[in-house]
Amino acid sequence: MRALLIDAPSTGPDTTGLHILPLPVPGPTDVTIDVAYAGINYLDVMARRGDAGYVQHWPYAPGLEVAGTVRAVGSHVDGLTAGQPVVALTTGGGYAEVVRVPAALTVPLAAGVDLDLAATVPLTVSTALLLITDAARVQAGDTVLVQSAGGGLGHALAQLLPLYGCSQLIGTVGQASKEEAAQNAGFDLVLSREDGEFESFAAQSPGACQVILDPLGTALLDTDLRVAAQGARVVLFGNPSGEPFGPLPPAPRLLAGNIAVGGFSLRALAARAPHRVRWAMECSLAHLAARRLQLPRPSAVELADIPEIHQRMASGHSTGKFVARITS
Ligand SMILES: NC(=O)c1ccc[n+]([C@@H]2O[C@H](COP(=O)([O-])OP(=O)(O)OC[C@H]3O[C@@H](n4cnc5c(N)ncnc54)[C@H](OP(=O)(O)O)[C@@H]3O)[C@@H](O)[C@H]2O)c1
Repeated sequence: MRALLIDAPSTGPDTTGLHILPLPVPGPTDVTIDVAYAGINYLDVMARRGDAGYVQHWPYAPGLEVAGTVRAVGSHVDGLTAGQPVVALTTGGGYAEVVRVPAALTVPLAAGVDLDLAATVPLTVSTALLLITDAARVQAGDTVLVQSAGGGLGHALAQLLPLYGCSQLIGTVGQASKEEAAQNAGFDLVLSREDGEFESFAAQSPGACQVILDPLGTALLDTDLRVAAQGARVVLFGNPSGEPFGPLPPAPRLLAGNIAVGGFSLRALAARAPHRVRWAMECSLAHLAARRLQLPRPSAVELADIPEIHQRMASGHSTGKFVARITS
């Protein structure tokens, strides 16, 4: 089968290429899936760069979220059958014609959900949903600030947050050229960090936000805290620069503001509480099937184009969500 592999750590596409590999077979608690579409994520870029904790050994097989059809079922698996349309969160290997995944993280596809959109559910939409429900516990009337609002996760948050009661949705982007993408995604107010608009907002509107969702390491944490309302929840969930994390705020500052600073990792949740990730996949699919959740259609590219998309994401210039068309 055709599969994408990254041979060695790199900041460029030079070590990523297509290979012919043997077809995987399921272990007792696994299924194999004929992959129709796979979601492309910034996490691939961090793995490609060799950031600590992402790759156990090289070559690395990227591709963390897929939609397709069950090909074969392990001997201990109940409730899934060959030929069934499904989505799955993988531990890698999703950019391939066939992928092996744990049955525990494989969910039947709800009727009426297209496979390209479905491929964004296991990682991107589920992360957005769990940030809202479990990590930040968004409540009706909350003003929510999302850093890096122009990308795949930003777009999913823009559509999901109003469903959970968010009354005002503020996004930041790293470059002014990405403001339009975030506005089109559904943010009420978009601030360019390049132009100092986020800093100005913090100066003019201290304490404006009940929730801050921040994937930018700890680089903006001080400003996050300035815009945090009494009782705010700040959730850190990424580190795209790969720079070391800075210190957390002094406890007196958190006590004075009744502010909770927390973290979120879908990968850690999948390892320790897979039932929550499964719930998020099922709930996201139900929202999509009922048309409560309307996501912008992702841009579909071919398997061979993935290295170029990774590079665009690494440059910080990409907007919206990309999926790879594999066998559909
Ligand atoms: N914790 C989790 O479980 C989890 C799960 C999924 C994704 N994430 C994180 O959520 C974020 C969004 O993911 P995504 O896949 O939707 O990606 P994305 O937003 O489409 O692309 C990544 C964005 O990160 C920002 N960025 C900031 N510093 C950067 C740098 N030094 N190099 C490149 N980009 C930089 C850029 O946006 P701006 O410049 O506009 O900010 C860039 O567009 C990522 O940081 C990802 O790691 C976390």
